[in-house]
Amino acid sequence: MTISKLAREIKESPTLKLNETAGKLRDRGEPVIHLGAGEPKSKVPIDAILSAASKLTTADIRYTPTEGISSLIKAIVRYTEANYGKIVSTKNVIVSNGAKHSIFNLMMTLVNPQDEVIILAPYWVSYPEIVKMVYGIPVVVSPDDSHFQPNIEDIEEAISSYTKAIIVNSPNNPSGIMYSSEFIAQIVELCEKRGIYLIMDDIYHKLIFDGKSIISPYKYAKDQTDSSKLIIVNGVSKMYAMTGFRIGWTVANTKVIEAMINVQAQNMSCPSVVMQEAAAGALNGIQSGVENLRLTLENSRNVMLNELHAFTGIRVTPPDGTFYCLPDFSAYSKDSIGLSKMLLEKALVVTVPGKEFGIEGHLRLSYCGTVKEIMEGIARIKWALDPESPNEIFIGDRKYRRDWK
Ligand SMILES: Cc1ncc(COP(=O)(O)O)c(C=O)c1O
Repeated sequence: MTISKLAREIKESPTLKLNETAGKLRDRGEPVIHLGAGEPKSKVPIDAILSAASKLTTADIRYTPTEGISSLIKAIVRYTEANYGKIVSTKNVIVSNGAKHSIFNLMMTLVNPQDEVIILAPYWVSYPEIVKMVYGIPVVVSPDDSHFQPNIEDIEEAISSYTKAIIVNSPNNPSGIMYSSEFIAQIVELCEKRGIYLIMDDIYHKLIFDGKSIISPYKYAKDQTDSSKLIIVNGVSKMYAMTGFRIGWTVANTKVIEAMINVQAQNMSCPSVVMQEAAAGALNGIQSGVENLRLTLENSRNVMLNELHAFTGIRVTPPDGTFYCLPDFSAYSKDSIGLSKMLLEKALVVTVPGKEFGIEGHLRLSYCGTVKEIMEGIARIKWALDPESPNEIFIGDRKYRRDWK
């Protein structure tokens, strides 16, 4: 075998695989409903487009400093002050090719072989694989109730002398749950006390509902100096619907950023200048698109909850943000991979198995599509699972018959 042991052990990204499967089925003309998607459908802000276009028309498209262009770094410094109440310097920021790349480079920068990184289940599918890719060990801590709130005592128990970092993602992909401010205060305190890096993956922090406000971890930090081990990862993908632009960033102490610049310099030189200009345009431009997206998602969340509440046997914890929810389907099947496969085959609905997020018996359903797609998607799932459903339904112009129990 000529492929490295590491590469062989890295799992395929289940969400990207599902996108591919849904795309292929759609290309064949199948009326697939994609409740597995991880990107908003709204338009990219005009300020991002104009900024990228104006850079492109110079026909002077070159490398940039590894850490990013200064207009974008300054915009991130302002964003951090406005949204976290924390004043950082331009030396505390590095721009990468999306938040995923930021997390990868961070792990390369912080983790020695055999170091442990604590990940809270349900977790974003990429965290364990990224930790493994730098020869670290992912240590998963599961919530002790069905509402997906982590328990600080469980996290404390999971800490060993090898623990290097804890990754916290709130609001959370896949559950949509926002961790309480009490929990954020506790985890900040715990990490400071134990000298562990706390990495806050805040990629969804503006997409929150029910009048909730962003929780800034800096508010609870005793160490406000440039030695702080509190790290923020964020990016333009979700809040500006700019997933295809691939721009994310890290805010950390200068030592971490300096080391990360070396890591990044040797693995990709710098993010594309055109995309950086686009991100600076989005951050410096009119912000109404973010609020419009947030309102649309809140409405779609409500539609999805309504549809799910009418579905006997499903338990769902209402999401506080993001565009995901994670209902418990274990009354129908405890095997989420099998269930997701069956729903795709029989009802042409894409869902993501909870097992991929470290939580069996659940399916992640996205509500970033249209209200029509959400309603039709849940109706089809209900038809496929509920024995009380009629035997036949029409999907598109084709009749489907229930020939299973
Ligand atoms: C929790 C979380 N972090 C990071 C990312 C990656 O974002 P980006 O597109 O900026 O790489 C995602 C994307 O799905 C995510 O869900």
